[in-house]
Amino acid sequence: MHIQISSDGYSYLPSYRPELSSYDAFLSLGAIDELQGFSNVQILRPKQKYAAEPNTYSGNFGVDAFPMHTDLAHWMLPPRYVALRAVFGSADVVTRLFDGKRLIEALGSERLARALVQPRRPVNGNKQLLRLLQSQREDGSSIVRWDSIYLQPATSNSETIYADIRAYLEKIAPIEITLLNPGDTLVIDNWRMLHGRSDCPDSAERRIIERAYLRKLL
Ligand SMILES: [Fe+2]
Repeated sequence: MHIQISSDGYSYLPSYRPELSSYDAFLSLGAIDELQGFSNVQILRPKQKYAAEPNTYSGNFGVDAFPMHTDLAHWMLPPRYVALRAVFGSADVVTRLFDGKRLIEALGSERLARALVQPRRPVNGNKQLLRLLQSQREDGSSIVRWDSIYLQPATSNSETIYADIRAYLEKIAPIEITLLNPGDTLVIDNWRMLHGRSDCPDSAERRIIERAYLRKLL
């Protein structure tokens, strides 16, 4: 199915093909990106901090809210699209979205483009320098990246903007989407939108979301 994502930076498809497996549903929307270290479809469940892998969002935040971020912001090229699909949804958890275009407007494209960050832990043995905004890439696209856990400022100049972004994101009112019914699917432009998640109360302990990264959409 062809979905339109360019105007809003995301597309929400309620009860999308619930009869299909998530793998087949994702394949019907685009090309699955096969990333090193990830299965094609990943199963996301709420995990207490102590039960989760240390270098993951659950390992950092457990069932508390996940702050706004770009998925794999610390990779040279973060995955293009993130697709999330409810297998067992919960009314008590929301997925949050915030348009990176608003972040650029608020903080200034020049400042974001100049800000150098690097992974907090090495990726493939090195901590390459990355820009929070990479605009006018060869194919005409741009990438806004943000992550308060996996990225750290690389210079004293970028410390200031890093702190400014953290403070700004504390005050935003994100879009909230509830993945509730089987097949509820959210496709996010990961080069534009930041996303996060509310906390997971006990009532959501059986929540299951499946995720895939997509290289392109149909
Ligand atoms: Fe994420």
